[in-house]
Parts: sequence; C-alpha cells; structure tokens
Amino acid sequence: MKPEIIVALDLIDEDKILRLIKLLGNKVSYYKIGYIAFYRFGWNMVDRLKDLGKKIMLDLKLDDIPNTVSYAIEAILPHKPTFVTIHSSVGKEALLKAKEATRGEIELLGITLLTSLGEDDLEALNIYGDIRGIVLKRAKLCKESGLKGVVASVNEAEIIKREIGEDFLVVTPGIRISLDKDDQKRIGTYKDAREKGVDFVVIGRPIYESDDPLGVIESLEKE
Ligand code: C5P
Repeated sequence: MKPEIIVALDLIDEDKILRLIKLLGNKVSYYKIGYIAFYRFGWNMVDRLKDLGKKIMLDLKLDDIPNTVSYAIEAILPHKPTFVTIHSSVGKEALLKAKEATRGEIELLGITLLTSLGEDDLEALNIYGDIRGIVLKRAKLCKESGLKGVVASVNEAEIIKREIGEDFLVVTPGIRISLDKDDQKRIGTYKDAREKGVDFVVIGRPIYESDDPLGVIESLEKE
C-alpha cells in the first residue's frame, strides 16, 4: 500500500509497545523509534524489533558538527536501521560527511522543517518566506548531499517530487484522521498524502492512542 505506513512508537511503556506490534502483525513493517523510546530502551528496542523482522526508521534527528554526525552514523551502523534522520540545517559539509559514513548501508532522511512549525513560529525565529520555498531549498540541499529523501509535510510533498524527482523519498508526519489541530500545524489526511505522491507516512498518536489501532489502519487502507 502506498504511502507505506511507519508507526511512530513514541511510548515509554514497553508492554504497550510490544502489544501494539503484535496486534498490528503483518499490517505494519516499519516502525519509527525516536527520542522517547530510544532514550528509554536504547538499542535493545531497535534490535528487538529487527529480530521480529521489522524495519526501523531511527528518528534521532542528528544535529551537530560534521565530525560528530559522521561518528554518530558509524556508531549506529551495526544496528542497521533502514532510515536515520538528520536535520538539513546541519549544512552541506555535515550532510556529506554523514552520507559518507553510512558506507551505503543505511539511508539518510533530511528533516526539512518540523511539521509542528507554522509561519508564525518561523517569523519569531527571523526566518521569512514561503514555507514551501524554504522546505524545497532544504530538500535540494539534501539531494545534492546524496541523501535518500526528506521528511516534510503533506503541503510540500508535491513540489519536492516535481522539482527533485520521483525517486527522492518524501516521508510525511502530521497525518490525522480528522483535521482537528493539536501540536502539529502542517497536517493532512492519509488520502492527501497519497494524492501528493508521498512515499511513507509517519503516524503516531492516531494509532497508538486509539482503542482500535488495527481498525485505524484498515480505515486508512479504505480511504
Ligand atoms: O503522534 P504524531 O502522529 O504527531 O507523530 C508524528 C511523529 O513524527 C513524532 O514522532 C514526531 O517526532 C515525528 N516528526 C514530526 N515532524 C518532523 C519529523 C518527525 O512530527 N518533521
């Protein structure tokens, strides 16, 4: 099914994580481990999920100088996640170094701009301009640095695909079943993501906070 669903495991309850994975079974092959599960369970959770045959998006959003990000990738390599995230704002030298450190064994995804940020937040940071333009420029930097794709919102997916190319991955968080706003500002539905050519959607709370996570996935399939 495209976009493929990556379930974000933003949980610190180990039993809940394992129950969820068991419940979702073959319906979900990709899980995202970010700060929350990684800081609590470390590599143990990554390795465990890999043993269950799952693919991992390791969302550690690397954000540091070239030497540090490059050795961080080297430290990650033996655990072989499918994807690792790095902020595009680290700049070209750090992106190139990180890419080189992967030795072609894992794929890097560049974070363009967090989906919780809107134009007001950017103005407060002295960043002006159209969000699509900002995201596209960062996506181009990621492409030039050899990254496999980017994390961007549903609003920017179409222009990234059009300007950079079909094989450059767009991974989209901020997917909501109904468009009620929470802390995510640049949001869309699964159907929007499919129509805009998104490759992967990252879905957290709408699945793990639901009383019927399997039902949520099945309803997305029907959309
Ligand atoms: O719960 P929700 O569906 O909002 O989860 C979205 C996930 O995607 C969170 O784990 C968040 O850290 C992550 N993410 C994001 N925006 C980005 C990159 C990652 O929301 N630009």
